[in-house]
Amino acid sequence: MNNQTQRITADQIRAMKNPAEPIVCLTAYSAPVARLLDPHVDILLVGDSMGMVLYGMEDTLGVTLDMMIAHGRAVVRASESALVVVDMPRGTYEESPAQAYGNARRLLDETGAQAVKLEGGEDRAEIIKYMTDRNINVMGHIGLLPQRVKEDGGFKIKGKTEEETAHLLRDARAVESAGAFATVIEGTVNNVAEALTKSVKIPTIGIGASPACDGQVLVTDDLLGLSLQRPAKFVKKYSDLQHAIKLATQEFAADVRARRFPGLENLYGRPK
Ligand code: KIV
Repeated sequence: MNNQTQRITADQIRAMKNPAEPIVCLTAYSAPVARLLDPHVDILLVGDSMGMVLYGMEDTLGVTLDMMIAHGRAVVRASESALVVVDMPRGTYEESPAQAYGNARRLLDETGAQAVKLEGGEDRAEIIKYMTDRNINVMGHIGLLPQRVKEDGGFKIKGKTEEETAHLLRDARAVESAGAFATVIEGTVNNVAEALTKSVKIPTIGIGASPACDGQVLVTDDLLGLSLQRPAKFVKKYSDLQHAIKLATQEFAADVRARRFPGLENLYGRPK
């Protein structure tokens, strides 16, 4: 899909249900990473996972709207063609539809991003509808909800019981009816994520979910082998940048200590 010079729109993503090519989504929190990923992905997600990945927090609960705005702005500035979606942090949308709308407007106006994402299904449908009725592009997020990790007693896979599965089906339909253009399904039993994908007309984007989803998302630092946390089962590591950074740092330190750096080629003017 991403072979265009203009930005992909939320409506184009919405139309990618049962796509010939699944939707490709990765997280980006900074300008250099956004620039490198942009030509290869359909969606850049400025996820609140940045709290853990970038800031070393225990979970995503300490992430603020101002952090999302600063990082969202950097990602928009450095990208041209991918749709940029910014996460709404915990505490910025649950109180009332008007609170959610006000903060979503700020996120979009101050970053230039095209859409916001928030966690929850049935229980957030009213909020999502209020925002989509006012022309805010909303991406849903159902299944394992990192913002509720404390209430849930940890990162727990969803869809293991009939009750949970029925709940997830209601969530998927509620998010769709409220006007979301797509939804993330996180940490959900494979067959259940497949059933959820079949049960709605909007695309589903899976993470720890199912190959049957209409797209896939990963945290970029996980796939690059940069994350400090132990990667979850669903992560595929495509590179080992931690190792590359270690080698480069060791080499730099050895050069400095042996006075090999800076060399003549790194100097402004010849030494006397
Ligand atoms: O915050 C994030 O990066 C996310 C993805 C894991 C979907 O929500």
